[in-house]
Amino acid sequence: MFDLEGVVRSRCSTRRFLPTPIPRDLLEEALALAQLAPSNSNIQPWRLFLTEGERTEQLRQALMAEVHAQPRELAPLPPSFRAHRRELGAIVYGAMGVARDDDAGRVAASRRNYEFFGAPMVGILCMHRELGLVDAVGVGMYLQTLVLGLTARGIGTCVQAALTTYPEVIRRELSIPEELVILCGLSLGYADPDFPANQLKIPKHPVETNVSILGPD
Ligand SMILES: Cc1cc2nc3c(=O)[nH]c(=O)nc-3n(C[C@H](O)[C@H](O)[C@H](O)COP(=O)(O)O)c2cc1C
Repeated sequence: MFDLEGVVRSRCSTRRFLPTPIPRDLLEEALALAQLAPSNSNIQPWRLFLTEGERTEQLRQALMAEVHAQPRELAPLPPSFRAHRRELGAIVYGAMGVARDDDAGRVAASRRNYEFFGAPMVGILCMHRELGLVDAVGVGMYLQTLVLGLTARGIGTCVQAALTTYPEVIRRELSIPEELVILCGLSLGYADPDFPANQLKIPKHPVETNVSILGPD
């Protein structure tokens, strides 16, 4: 449970959850662990709103009503990064059995974001809007600590930028104050072991693609 490397290696995004609720003690342990994350000037800029039980269902229904009434595209990526989304889509949708040319199937699969992939709990991660990029880094460190703490306790997660597509619905349903900006969502719960797309090992770049170790000139 506390083998960091094993936890990091075993984590992968969950895109179908069982309805089983998360035991409160495990959730509280992971939340307490995540509070230890570092942040700029120790601001601890993360604000997390978690829904459970009927509240999750209410948010799901409110989002799905809006998705049907006013469908929106995911925020586009800059052109030079778009291939990543295409490649990921091919892997994830492929594992879900959705063919490349099945546009309706892809739309339906993408819309499952707004159903939180069946998760019994969803988190909405926010930060004060007057804070800057460096503070978003702090929120990211919190999020990864939380995700790993949950993974170590057998709980699956999916971080979701998609949930920022309908921010006004989430703000209204969860009474999130205007001074907070919504950064992303986090679906959490037990992963459905029978869903092949829950076992994907999404390929990552070799270290040299992202890291330059600079010696003396
Ligand atoms: C900030 C962020 C936003 C993400 N948004 C979404 C999303 O909206 N929907 C989704 O299905 N996955 C989302 N993901 C999951 C990524 O697709 C996933 O982390 C990536 O493909 C690598 O796969 P892995 O998590 O299984 O290692 C997001 C992840 C992060 C960190």
